Amino acid sequence: MSPRPDTLRGVTIQGTGMYVPEKRLTNQDLEKIVETTDEWIVERTGIRSRHVAAPDQASSDLALIACQRALAMARVEAKDVDQVILATTTPDRILPSCACTLQKKLGATGAAAYDMFAACTGFIFGAGMARGLIGGGMADTVLVVGVETLTRIVDYTDRNTCVLFGDGAGAAVFQACEPGSGIHAVDMHSDGELGEVLEVPAGISRNPASEATVRGREHFIKMQGKKLFPFAVRSMEEATRKCVGAAGWSPDDVDLFIPHQANLRIIEGVRDRLGLPLEKVYVNIDRYGNTSSASIPIALDECVRSGRVKQGDKLAFAAFGGGATWGATTMTWTLPVWTEGAPALAAGAVNGATA
Ligand code: ACO
Repeated sequence: MSPRPDTLRGVTIQGTGMYVPEKRLTNQDLEKIVETTDEWIVERTGIRSRHVAAPDQASSDLALIACQRALAMARVEAKDVDQVILATTTPDRILPSCACTLQKKLGATGAAAYDMFAACTGFIFGAGMARGLIGGGMADTVLVVGVETLTRIVDYTDRNTCVLFGDGAGAAVFQACEPGSGIHAVDMHSDGELGEVLEVPAGISRNPASEATVRGREHFIKMQGKKLFPFAVRSMEEATRKCVGAAGWSPDDVDLFIPHQANLRIIEGVRDRLGLPLEKVYVNIDRYGNTSSASIPIALDECVRSGRVKQGDKLAFAAFGGGATWGATTMTWTLPVWTEGAPALAAGAVNGATA
């Protein structure tokens, strides 16, 4: 747990963006591929459809559009970004990093760019990094993007996993703000003991790609969903409580809670435990499925662009994922209600905080 020391600059989000590929894969489509039903998927997961990248789209292509939208909202030019943190489980390739590929496409020529592997908690970990870098004076502008093309590593003969995942990207531009506003706390955890509950068994150094690994379908996600479920509910609740407490709030004070969208029943479990009313919890899993590291920034961008968040609102985010990893963030929203073409937060608000 790392509440904000008073000596650091405040850190906030100045712009958000998202992108999902055009193609939708519905539960009815899946009924034709594996032995499943729309009824089972909706009842057990809350998912109705998910988006699938086109054959010529890789993760960096999805990330590019989300980042361009976030930078436009923040009125920041790509060349002025200091760091690009790309959270993913599905980079274009292992080498070069997906972040460097994105940096080239984006024209973020002045940025250090690198990938972060924290599965579904990637955006929370990215927010923690951004806060540390900006708060500590190592960077002024950090672009964090969560992006996944999970449908490329999903086994469409395995009904336990193929109904769950989708593709998409969500991004946020982090900059300095007045101390006392913006991000209040970030809670980040990992437990490698749970590594085998969710894994891709082959393809890199442990089990290099071979005919046998391909035949064994070992390049696809394997998951013990039942083991993850209670851990997901417990870990997201605990991390959220810590960050809410560090902000000096109680759960009742939260205006908007954006949980990682892995399963509607997990979201409901966390909501129940935190005692939050339905209207304070954002849900879009029905349309996107589980987009892992992209799920929170996609949801945040939808909330921002639909006017669901306004200046002064108290926000909490929480996630869990493979690794295992989990964490949460609390922040007070610093931007006015967003309208297309509106000026970004006055530059003085940012510069004033950097002194
Ligand atoms: N259609 C129909 N039946 C199915 C399907 C399907 N798509 N999938 C599983 N079933 C069957 C199972 O085979 C089982 O049948 P059986 O009783 O004859 O063996 C039955 O449904 C019940 O299976 P359970 O595993 O008990 O179902 P459960 O209610 O636990 O739901 C689920 C499974 C949705 C995977 C749930 O456990 C879950 O969401 N777990 C968390 C998973 C998760 O969040 N993963 C993402 C991690 S984040 C990241 O880092 C990517």
